[in-house]
Amino acid sequence: MHFENNLTRMLGIRHPLVMAPMFLVSNEKMVEAAMRSGILGCFPSLNYRDADQLESVLISLNAFRSTNPAYRGSYGVNLIVQQSNPFFQKHLDICVKNRVPVYITSLGNPKTTIEAAHSYGAKVFCDVTNLTHAEKCHSLGCDGFVAVGQGAGGHAGPFPISLLVRSLRKHFPEVPVLAAGGISDGAGILSALAAGASAAYCGTIFITSSESNVSIDYTKAILDSRMDDIVMTDRISGTPCTIINTPYAQKIGLHQNRLERWLSKNPKTKKYFKMLVQRRGFSWLEKAMIPGNYKSLWCAGQSVELIDKIQPIELIVHELMKEMNLAYQDLNGMAIR
Ligand SMILES: Cc1cc2nc3c(=O)[nH]c(=O)nc-3n(C[C@H](O)[C@H](O)[C@H](O)COP(=O)(O)O)c2cc1C
Repeated sequence: MHFENNLTRMLGIRHPLVMAPMFLVSNEKMVEAAMRSGILGCFPSLNYRDADQLESVLISLNAFRSTNPAYRGSYGVNLIVQQSNPFFQKHLDICVKNRVPVYITSLGNPKTTIEAAHSYGAKVFCDVTNLTHAEKCHSLGCDGFVAVGQGAGGHAGPFPISLLVRSLRKHFPEVPVLAAGGISDGAGILSALAAGASAAYCGTIFITSSESNVSIDYTKAILDSRMDDIVMTDRISGTPCTIINTPYAQKIGLHQNRLERWLSKNPKTKKYFKMLVQRRGFSWLEKAMIPGNYKSLWCAGQSVELIDKIQPIELIVHELMKEMNLAYQDLNGMAIR
C-alpha cells in the first residue's frame, strides 16, 4: 500500500507522512527507520552540535538512502535559523557540503538556507504559525510550509491546524503544506489531508518509538499523560513551548517575569538575553533526559492523548497508514442524500 500526491512525488517518498525533528530526541536510528518505512525522517542539526559528528551522521544517512532506493524514504535536517543559534552557519555549510535533500527551517529568517539549498536543488520547508511569517517565507521562495498549529509538541502555534492549513492553501494555493500538531492516528492524518495538507508532520508519537533513546521516565510520562497535562512555557527558549506539566515544571514556573520579558523585547538586549535563556533551558532539558533525574522537564504535544504503546517506527507508520485507509473507506461509505 502506498499513497501518492504532490508531496510524495516532490520528495520521492512512499507515504504522506513526516517524522518531525525533535531536539534531544531524534537520532540517526530513528531517521534510518523512518526512511525504511517510506517517509521523510527529520532531525534537528542541534542534536549533533559537534561538526564532525553531524557530518558523519549525514554521510551514513546518504549511504543508507542511496543503497536502499526501494524503501522510497528520505530525510531532512532542521535548522534553527534564529540569530541566537551560534551553530547555524557551520551546520548549514556541512549540510550543503553533504547535499542534504530537505531542510526544515524554524524560528527566524530562512533566506540564507533557501539560497544555499536551491544552489543544488534541495527543498526547503519553513515552519510557520501565522500568515505574516508565511508571506515572508513565500517571498523568499520556500518550497513548502510546515503549518505548526495549536497543541503541537515544541513551539506550538496559536491557531488550530485545520484553520491554519485552510488559510495557507487559500493564500498560497500552489505551495504544499505539512500539517503539524495533535496528529497521532490515521484519522487525524486523513483529516489534515482533507483540509488541504499534503502530509502530516508528527513528532510526539515517535518519542515512544522503540528506536528513540529517551529515558523510561520520559516514555512513561508520554504514555500516562492526557491532553490536559500539556502546558505552555516560555521559560525554556523564550518562545512558547509545550511541555508535560510535571511538579518540576511547576516549580520553575511557566512564564518569564517582567524583567525577563523586558530583556527579551528590548532591541539592545534581545539577542543576547535569548541566547542566555536558551542555554539555560536546553541545559534543563538535557538534565531531564538523564534516567531517574527528579528535574523532569519533558517536551510533548497534546497528541499524547492517543499514544498508548511503545512500537518500532516501521510498525507505527504501517498502522497509521492502515488506519488512514480505513478512515478513508469509512468516509466513502457515507451516504449523501
Ligand atoms: C520533544 C520535541 C522536541 C522538538 N524539537 C524541535 C526542534 O528542535 N526543532 C523544530 O523545528 N521542532 C521541534 N519540535 C516540533 C516538531 O518538529 C513538530 O512540529 C511537532 O512535534 C508536531 O506536533 P506533534 O508533536 O503534536 O506531532 C519538537 C517537538 C517535540 C515533541
